[in-house]
Amino acid sequence: MSIPLPTPAIFAHRGDSAHAPENTLAAFELAIRKGADAIELDAMLCASGEVVVIHDETLERTTDGQGRVSETPLAALRELDAGSWFAPRFRGEHIPTLEEVLEAIGGRIYLNIELKNYATPRDPLPERVATLVERFGLEENVLFSSFNPWTLRRARARLPRVPLGLLTAPGWTGGVLNGPLGRLLVPYEALHPERRSVTPALVAAVHRRGARLHTYTVEDPAEARYLFALGVDGIFANDPAIVEEGG
Ligand code: G3P
Ligand code: MG
Repeated sequence: MSIPLPTPAIFAHRGDSAHAPENTLAAFELAIRKGADAIELDAMLCASGEVVVIHDETLERTTDGQGRVSETPLAALRELDAGSWFAPRFRGEHIPTLEEVLEAIGGRIYLNIELKNYATPRDPLPERVATLVERFGLEENVLFSSFNPWTLRRARARLPRVPLGLLTAPGWTGGVLNGPLGRLLVPYEALHPERRSVTPALVAAVHRRGARLHTYTVEDPAEARYLFALGVDGIFANDPAIVEEGG
């Protein structure tokens, strides 16, 4: 299946996280207003089993709470302020559930849902996310990504029509997974390498496989233009207006 995005596409990384607290509805609404092509968000399970949207496995950096997300039930997460760490005017923003996000912005912008169960790879995150996407009828409007290829395979088994993005760590570019054998081992429609790993040869290998290449995380407008010239199909940017602002 194809990914319905322009080339190059700008993914607002955790929403417009340059101007609003990451992974909150405020950051997502701002990204839509700025004209981002897509929004990237991070999803994991909390202690009571709901899918919540937050990047870190712990609460300290982006909320006024403490402890692990996986050990905190939704009722307690609801009490936390996920906005004022960023700026006082965002006080009252909270950690959204994925359900809330799909309700608010599903279908208004393409979503890259990163399946972030790296610490607990056997948990039912892929299936729970898939159930929500199906319930909202958003199979054509979302892409699942993960650094864990087996998590992607589980997502594919559950919702075969949703495209997959394989994230790779800095210095690793997918190796054998970019070739014909990779199609069998890890089905992906997009490779998501770290920005410093992108070379003309990598772009060519991914395109030969018939996939797109989206690279993370770009903050410098000149680097964004350099990557576009190399032929990348998209970038993850904290500021979705990165290119316009760079002149
Ligand atoms: O999807 C790109 C990027 O979000 C992957 O890394 O740690 O920012 O979720 P991270
Ligand atoms: Mg992410």
